[in-house]
Amino acid sequence: MIRLDKILAHMGYGSRKEVKELIRKGYVSINGDIVKNDDYKVDELNDEIIIFDNNIKYDEFIYLMLNKPQGVVSATTDYNNSTVLDLIDGYEKRNLFPIGRLDIDTEGLLILTNDGELSHKLLSPKNHVSKTYYLEYEGKLNKNYEKMLEEGLLISEGYKCLPAKLNLLGDNKAEIIITEGKFHQVKRMIEALGGNVTYLKRIKFKNLELDSNLKLGEYRKLTKEEIDKLREE
Ligand code: URA
Repeated sequence: MIRLDKILAHMGYGSRKEVKELIRKGYVSINGDIVKNDDYKVDELNDEIIIFDNNIKYDEFIYLMLNKPQGVVSATTDYNNSTVLDLIDGYEKRNLFPIGRLDIDTEGLLILTNDGELSHKLLSPKNHVSKTYYLEYEGKLNKNYEKMLEEGLLISEGYKCLPAKLNLLGDNKAEIIITEGKFHQVKRMIEALGGNVTYLKRIKFKNLELDSNLKLGEYRKLTKEEIDKLREE
């Protein structure tokens, strides 16, 4: 059971104060009866909650796909910069956090959730979740790049990468698929091949592609099918 005003605020219908007002004004009904008492406790899984004629389905977990722009950090708080959470409206109380990190100057697919268990699974190094990036670079890449990537590229500080795949698209553009997520990993890999990344965008995370309808800074909820895909072993 959960307080009615809490659920409505969690669902993004306003601040706790605003939703209390909506309840008092009679905009909310439970199982067909108008309820004007904001501390009314609802059974979030079985009661039918209707606000402004919308039937509410309470989701314990939230999953959002964000097209991250440059200039924001993939963190929940930061002293110097805006964070990805500053781009999200209406979920302030839902304890969202990004699954993994993109550099401040990297764009593209970032999933935000409050599902710690799924996040942990997707980030666990032993699960080798694949990530695909589109990149543009300066310089000339080593012509043995395929073999070097297959064998495990040696990047700065002596780290040997897991095998990765690079598809050159011509004109100093490429796509790279990696299955780990070390700090500045793609930039360091391209550097080890003789290039310098000038633009980086994540276009796929595991089996989920960035929705091409999302402009930079825009986000949407994942569909049930997409959440199931992320959960697939
Ligand atoms: N690799 C990088 O170098 N930067 C990112 O943001 C992601 C992968």
